[in-house]
Formats: sequence, structure tokens, C-alpha cells
Amino acid sequence: MEAIRTSVHREIQQVNDLIIDQLQSRVPLVENIGHYIVDAGGKRLRPLLVLLCGAALGNASERHIKFAAVIEFIHTATLLHDDVVDISSLRRGRATANAEFGNAPSVLVGDFLYTRAFQLLVQLADMDILRNMADTTNTIAEGEVLQLTRAGDPSTSEVQYLEIITNKTAILFAAACYGAAALGGQDEECRLRQHAFGLNLGIAFQMIDDVLDYEGDPATMGKNIGDDLTEGKPTLPLIYTLQHGSADEQTLIRDAITNKTADRIADVVAAVTRCGALDYTRSQAKHYHDLALEQLQYLPDSDHRSAMMKITALSINRDH
Ligand code: IPE
Ligand code: IPE
Ligand code: MG
Ligand code: MG
Repeated sequence: MEAIRTSVHREIQQVNDLIIDQLQSRVPLVENIGHYIVDAGGKRLRPLLVLLCGAALGNASERHIKFAAVIEFIHTATLLHDDVVDISSLRRGRATANAEFGNAPSVLVGDFLYTRAFQLLVQLADMDILRNMADTTNTIAEGEVLQLTRAGDPSTSEVQYLEIITNKTAILFAAACYGAAALGGQDEECRLRQHAFGLNLGIAFQMIDDVLDYEGDPATMGKNIGDDLTEGKPTLPLIYTLQHGSADEQTLIRDAITNKTADRIADVVAAVTRCGALDYTRSQAKHYHDLALEQLQYLPDSDHRSAMMKITALSINRDH
């Protein structure tokens, strides 16, 4: 990761400074919770993509730095909300904001970060990006609600799963790359190629997240495993096991999803591993990784493009 960051090292620092600066509020609790989650770090993958994409297409300008902060704020807002909805207790190696401060403050500070992002976005005064971000955040909200309506439903199909992860996760990766191209004054074709790159990368990224929810190490990931099972989320490892597992494995998974319980997490991990569901999910992630890579061949060769390729590879070969 450090090697990937090298080519935009200075710009990353500027994004981090801007994020801290923009957490300022007249209300102390906003700053407390804002710092609580932001200071815990996170991989900052999405702002890094904005900078690398911008640099690969010309340069990572002041405007890219602002836009990168916008994207990270929106991401952070979705995490605050997501952890309330998922009743998660660990994030970025510490207690979640909802566990530490309660649900209400987490939701409201999430709203603060969302709206702060749009205040910054307005400063960029670019109607196409503003439209794209309005559509993107609306789609994320829809994706999370769609996922909610599917929770506890073992009849969820792979196509429906793909729709959920595209909407809740991949669309923000797509918006990060689309916006970086737009800020560079690139034409529609280039913007859409960057969008497609980000979308496929985001799908691969979320598929691996869903694998890690079963086989990851909480200490390395900084979040707990089994959260998806507790929520009865029919993610791809479970969908595959429902189709290809033994009769007993299918019953085990169907019951776990329907009853929204991680009581038998050890058995579920054994089942998704044995029947090849984790391998299948990884192979699907690899498929979307390849689709993302295809889009990068249209960029001129550069250190920045190489870094984008490495991020794409890292998204599927990661343990956190
Ligand atoms: C977590 O995203 C939410 C998902 C889309 C799976 P990240 O794994 O990028 O979270 P941080 O920012 O590094 O904590
Ligand atoms: C993340 O989904 C999607 C958003 C934050 C919008 P998850 O619920 O799988 O993310 P983690 O695993 O809690 O990070
Ligand atoms: Mg979650
Ligand atoms: Mg997850």
C-alpha cells in the first residue's frame, strides 16, 4: 500500500489535512464523533483512487484534493449509518461509534458528514459532478434499503446480490473515478470508462469483503466476522452454498439466514469453505477485477496507472 501511495504522497497529505479541517463544528459532539472515526484511519482507498485517476489523466489538482475529501466524507457517513443498521461493534480496530456513543449520535453525525460533503462539492461548482454525486448518494441509500428488504430471505438470487453490492458499494468507487476524470476536463467517453473501472473494482472489493466476513481475522481487519450472518444477509458465499452445498449444509444456511443468527458461525464457515463457496466468490471477484483492469488499458502508461493496477490487484488479494 505504501508503494502505491508514493506517487501522490503530497496530495494525500493535503486530503488528510482538509478532512481534519472540515470536521470543525460549533457542536462539540459532532467533532468528537467525527474525529473518533476519522482518526482511526481506514485505508482511504477511495480518495487515493481520485488522486491516482486524476494524476493518470494529467494532474491531481487542488480540485481533485477537495473532491477526494468529499468522497471520503460520504464513505465515512455511510459507515456510521451502516454500523447502526448492522448493529456492528468493531470498526477500524476500535469500538464502533454506535457502541461508544449510541445510535442517535452516530446517525446524526453521519448526516453531518454527508451534508458537509455536499457543502464542499458545491465549492467545486461543477454541475455534472454535482449531478453524479446526487445520483450516487441516492443509489447508495437505495442499495442499503434493498439489502434490508432482502435480509432474512434465503431465496435471494445472485443477480439480486449483484444489484445490492453495485448500489451500496461499487457506485461510490465509480463516482470517485468518474469525478476525477470530469475534473480533469476529460470527455464523456473517458469519464464513462473511469466510471466502469471504478464500478467493477467496487464490485470485486465488496465480494472480497463478503468473503472476509467469514474467514477474516478480526485483529487484522479491525472489524468482526459473522456480522453478515447475524443480519441474515444473503451474500454470495451463502447463495452459492444454498445451491451447491450438501442437503445438511443447505438446511444450515437456510436456517441461519431466516433466523438471522450467527449461533452456528463455526459450522457455517466450515460449510462455505468445504463446498467451494468462498473460492467461487473469490473467482467472481477476480472476474470483476479483470473487467476493471481492461478499462485501464485506455489510460496512458505511467506510474499512476501502474499504481491503479496495483490497487485493483490489492482489492482482491487483501486480508483487511
Ligand atoms: C468498508 O470499506 C465498507 C465496504 C464497502 C465493504 P473499507 O474497507 O474501504 O473501509 P475503511 O475506510 O478502510 O475502514
Ligand atoms: C458496506 O457494507 C456498504 C456501505 C457501507 C454502504 P458492509 O456492511 O458489508 O460493510 P462492513 O463489512 O460493515 O464494512
Ligand atoms: Mg456493515
Ligand atoms: Mg461487510
